[in-house]
Amino acid sequence: MTNIYNGKRVFITGHTGFKGGWLTLWLTELGAKVCGYSLEANTNPSMFKELNIGEKIEKSVIGDILDENLLNSTISEFQPDIVFHLAAQPLVRTSYKEPVLTYKTNVLGTLNVLIAANNCENTKAFVNITTDKCYENIEIQKGYTEDCPLGGYDMYSSSKACAEILSASFRNSYLKESGKMALATARAGNVIGGGDWAKDRLIPDCINAVNNNEAILIRNPNAIRPWQFVLEPLSGYLLLGEKLLTEGARFAEPFNFGPKENEALNVTEVAENICRIYEKGEIKTDKQIHPHEAQILTLNTDKAKKILGWTPTYTNLEAIEKTVVWYKNFYDKKCNMYDFTINQIREYGEKITWSKNYAIR
Ligand SMILES: NC(=O)c1ccc[n+]([C@@H]2O[C@H](COP(=O)([O-])OP(=O)(O)OC[C@H]3O[C@@H](n4cnc5c(N)ncnc54)[C@H](O)[C@@H]3O)[C@@H](O)[C@H]2O)c1
Repeated sequence: MTNIYNGKRVFITGHTGFKGGWLTLWLTELGAKVCGYSLEANTNPSMFKELNIGEKIEKSVIGDILDENLLNSTISEFQPDIVFHLAAQPLVRTSYKEPVLTYKTNVLGTLNVLIAANNCENTKAFVNITTDKCYENIEIQKGYTEDCPLGGYDMYSSSKACAEILSASFRNSYLKESGKMALATARAGNVIGGGDWAKDRLIPDCINAVNNNEAILIRNPNAIRPWQFVLEPLSGYLLLGEKLLTEGARFAEPFNFGPKENEALNVTEVAENICRIYEKGEIKTDKQIHPHEAQILTLNTDKAKKILGWTPTYTNLEAIEKTVVWYKNFYDKKCNMYDFTINQIREYGEKITWSKNYAIR
């Protein structure tokens, strides 16, 4: 097998964000011609600015997915072979304060990107990135499978469940008969890795506290999440995209991507490991009352294993270690973070057992 992305035209929404930034770099290293389309990076620092990602790719457009004219003209001009849609309002706590923005971005914005891609002559494949939070959470230990009911207590989760329903409906309404574009959705777990400075996420919160010599304040100490290193779901998206490009509608379905079985850690365990690897830090429980967040969330990834042949590569502890080392290097300012990030992608690509196609040179 060869690396299918070499020379492919790839449109990524959300390339100024955390996951989109890593995906943009990985695809560029695989030889893809990438066009990124997103709002300005909204954290300071940001992976996009620190690693100068806009300069590394074919085209970088700062634009809103709600701006139909700019979105349509950018896609139509670029003529991508495949779209990875990651742009979103991705934060649970923000969604309580900004429900309209969350729904506009995650539902209407997604519809705009789907329509623009479907109108684009050359676009054959579309990977829509939603989340593990799209399931109706009934607080069970057993991992959710792709046929479990969709739902969502908070506005973020339910907006992503809507993006799932929208994708299924778009597929039925416009793609089934035409066979023009194969559309799949990807539901990944809680992602950790360097370059994330988003508000109210565990890793950035821990790293900021440790760096400022403050106690790490934990809101939900016993909450269990399917933590995974950022490159794990991205490897799943690449594989899913490859299957859509080569075999089309057969893979146009939802897929979960999560950590190895029995690897779900609780929030305290993650924070303790961060302090251990950073060699400093103190953990305190935040006793204030906070908006509802689920206690248990785990994913069943048997479908991705059976149908795509995907399995996770790193253990949870490896994921935490790679993450902490990234931030340590960033704050110590002792190395070039672009090179360091590419090295983490190289190291991960070489460790993947189920494909040699994503190892970069
Ligand atoms: N980080 C996680 O743990 C996690 C877990 C599951 C799913 N996801 C999903 O993965 C995707 C990427 O998440 P992330 O963690 O990288 O988030 P992020 O906040 O770092 O990035 C979000 C990106 O979306 C862009 N964006 C937001 N609104 C936009 C708009 N109206 N128009 C154009 N661009 C817009 C931002 O500019 C940014 O580039 C999201 O769809 C998110 O829901 C993330």
